[in-house]
Amino acid sequence: MITHRPRRNRKSAAIRNMVQENHVSVNDFIYPLFLIDGGNKKTEVSSMPGIFRWSPDLILNEIESCMKLGITAFDVFPSINDTLKDKTATESLNKNGVYLKTLTLIKKKFPEACIMTDVAMDPYSSDGHDGLVENGKIVNDKTLDILAKMAVAQADCGIDIIGPSDMMDGRVGFIREALDDAGHEEVSIMSYTAKYASGFYNPFRDALDSAPKFGDKKTYQMNPANGREALIEAQLDTEEGADFLMVKPALSYLDVIKDLSTHFDLPIAAYNVSGEYSMVKAAAAKGWIDGERVRDEILLSMKRAGASVILSYFAKEWALSNKK
Ligand code: PBG
Repeated sequence: MITHRPRRNRKSAAIRNMVQENHVSVNDFIYPLFLIDGGNKKTEVSSMPGIFRWSPDLILNEIESCMKLGITAFDVFPSINDTLKDKTATESLNKNGVYLKTLTLIKKKFPEACIMTDVAMDPYSSDGHDGLVENGKIVNDKTLDILAKMAVAQADCGIDIIGPSDMMDGRVGFIREALDDAGHEEVSIMSYTAKYASGFYNPFRDALDSAPKFGDKKTYQMNPANGREALIEAQLDTEEGADFLMVKPALSYLDVIKDLSTHFDLPIAAYNVSGEYSMVKAAAAKGWIDGERVRDEILLSMKRAGASVILSYFAKEWALSNKK
């Protein structure tokens, strides 16, 4: 005799829905947006079908249309003209530059939206690295000063969450102190806690033209072979005052999301990165998978692993297809 029949809880949609353990909601999303200079400009990222770089006027419209779908949080990434890049990422502090100017505009027009920004040198660096390069090396402590100034400049625009994506040691505490000194104690930090040196970022680097000019990012981003090391990073970020811990990429690192959510009480964010989006789009375009079904399964897997926040290029299309 079979005593336990788990199939009984799967016998109808009504029962399946009743016992469903995890759900994706529009409230879970942070939608990454790419910003370019100019007016009335919208260019598609060729390796990310459906994802565009927007000029400031159009990014406002895009945010408005997403808010109508219930998306309330956005992460804005700037694409900076090559001629403005230098060794020390000077352009990141330019109040009249496209990034800081547009952030102010966005917060003025949508004060209720939650706006997150990226802190790292790569979009503004002539070396294409997240930190300062000296003699072919990425130097940690001198980078911290630059990152802290960048964070304060962004906070001055009224943004809600700072996202240090650079993986320098000590940067969360350093940035926290600089924000507090500048009177920004209400500005949150979502730390890229476990950010791996990953092949999944290439489409993002196409979007921003921000690929490293030499070498790779392996001396600061984590080795994909390591899980326990993520716990060290999470411990440090927690002690240094992070408000959220992020794992990135997400899909190949669900075990890391699970580990962090088990061992830490801060909310965990999963970054469903560019390459994860592009793979689904490419296979779906070939008719090899059902893109929407796979998208939903992937997003759900991040919730199941323990993420409460998902940064995803799928956010808008998910919201469109789940509109009530
Ligand atoms: C920059 C940064 C990267 C991403 C977010 N911030 C790229 C990198 O580290 O090379 C990747 C996001 C994605 O692939 O969607 N520090």
